[in-house]
Amino acid sequence: MSERSHRVAVLGGDGIGPEVTAAALEVVRAAGVSLDTKAFDVGAARYLRDGFVLDDATLEELRGFDAILLGAVGPAIGDHRIPGGVLERGLLLRLRFGLDLFINYRPFHGVEGSIAEGRTFAIVRENTEGPYAGEGGTLRRGTAHEIATQGSVNTRHGVERCVRYAFGRATMLARKQLTLVHKTNVLTFAGDLWQRVVDDVATEYPEVNVEYNHVDAACIYLVESPDRYGIIVTDNLFGDILSDLAGAVTGGIGYAASANLNPDRTGASMFEPVHGAAHDIAGTGRANPLACVSSAVLMLEHLGEEGAAQLLARVVADFDGDVTALGTAGVTNYLIERL
Ligand code: IPM
Ligand code: MN
Repeated sequence: MSERSHRVAVLGGDGIGPEVTAAALEVVRAAGVSLDTKAFDVGAARYLRDGFVLDDATLEELRGFDAILLGAVGPAIGDHRIPGGVLERGLLLRLRFGLDLFINYRPFHGVEGSIAEGRTFAIVRENTEGPYAGEGGTLRRGTAHEIATQGSVNTRHGVERCVRYAFGRATMLARKQLTLVHKTNVLTFAGDLWQRVVDDVATEYPEVNVEYNHVDAACIYLVESPDRYGIIVTDNLFGDILSDLAGAVTGGIGYAASANLNPDRTGASMFEPVHGAAHDIAGTGRANPLACVSSAVLMLEHLGEEGAAQLLARVVADFDGDVTALGTAGVTNYLIERL
């Protein structure tokens, strides 16, 4: 246990978001880690009430925290008062770009019937470039001659820092396996850059076995034989899609954790479950907090609390309770009792 109190910004968000962040913080504190938290009210509800998503001053304040824990943001399904992209670009992507969270790290744990129990693979997704960069635009919108372009931005700097992080992660695995996933046969410009960067960096890591999969083939392999993977390194959009698929084949998106990392530590890293706000069950006490707890484990690793992170990771991995029967409080107490 460290003596230091970590300053954590808590962005509960909408729907079940605040419920799962509260549960995760309770478990982390029970694991003996001292946190100094500050809550920030952001998300769909805040936008509807006050008309803005994330102001400059708040972004700057968030930069200085040791970490950010985010629950979930978004309106209820069927509520169309917020145009698509307002929250995504205004909050999530603003945090990723503004705090230079250039790695999106998503580990997936084996469950019975999918990958072998106990085995883990992870997706290292580039998190600030690709089609997410916002390059493009429309011309003659709404006319028969409308044009829309949406380019993919890939810089040597951005690709290389992502690939280097991925190799570093691969060396930590028992089976040092790294797979580049792309579509080099069609996206020849971006794919060429990614492939050359991987080839270059690979010379510094002779102990890592390097492979390449086209993204469409990777979808089949993830379903049929996810055991083949150690670290998957890929661009922003492929990583987004593959990580939902990986979540689905390893027990469901309700268990998937993610870390938006700035490994250079020039801005606070952000930890969030992959799932959404699930307004339909908000306030019922039925939200599954395990994805947020697992995200908090990644946060503890980042904060240098390796002991607590390992302990909590093991308790989560050994969890064999019935989430539906236990509910949020039941799962939280189950974890705390076993710490
Ligand atoms: C994710 C989400 C986000 C993304 C959306 C909400 C902007 O799907 O974190 O995977 O596309 O990155
Ligand atoms: Mn996604």
